[in-house]
Amino acid sequence: MGSANRFGLGAFVKNIVILISGMGSNMAAILQAAHQEKWRERLGVQVAAVITNKSNASGLAWLRSHSHLAPVKTEVLEHTQFESREAFDQALMARIDAHAPDLVVLAGFMRILTPAFVVHYKGRLINIHPSLLPAFTGLNTHQRAIDAGCKFAGATVHQVTAELDRGEILAQSVVPVLTEDTAETLAARVLLQEHQIFPAAIADFFKP
Ligand code: GRF
Repeated sequence: MGSANRFGLGAFVKNIVILISGMGSNMAAILQAAHQEKWRERLGVQVAAVITNKSNASGLAWLRSHSHLAPVKTEVLEHTQFESREAFDQALMARIDAHAPDLVVLAGFMRILTPAFVVHYKGRLINIHPSLLPAFTGLNTHQRAIDAGCKFAGATVHQVTAELDRGEILAQSVVPVLTEDTAETLAARVLLQEHQIFPAAIADFFKP
């Protein structure tokens, strides 16, 4: 994989494609890390594109105001324009593959993926999930952790496989659950950790 862009010394640049649906704060953390840590020079890797299924994703505004960080292509592919989940995923795969990705990053991409999509990107598709997997797969993780009386919560970066939130764990971070926590305060504490471990796990993925 990798594009024909050279990043120096005759080697090829590897490409990351990020998928978002909303705020895009994890995407922002990844792009900032790539810039500050000089991923292109040090690791030979760049974020080639960000693709969203929501034209109103607020992450798009962040990208517009931070275009100095990197020449990232931004694309919108609305899932509502497709008749089936399969048709959307096929179109999305075509968009992603146009960037010859070595890694596809789900950064708050709020879609259930078809098996064909997951199989196509086997070994190069990662996600961040706001719980300490294998606990609390699925949605409403923070409220469920509070309701279960957990003393600790956290986030997990993992490989994506056909089984929801069950792929190989690549990184985790733990935070305390405080007695006064609501789902919102806990989510905010976890999100700060997500912004640390997601870029770090991606950099690790490309380290020789
Ligand atoms: C994060 O909490 C992530 O773990 C979950 O969705 C949220 C996305 O946040 N999958 P953002 O769009 O990266 O700000």
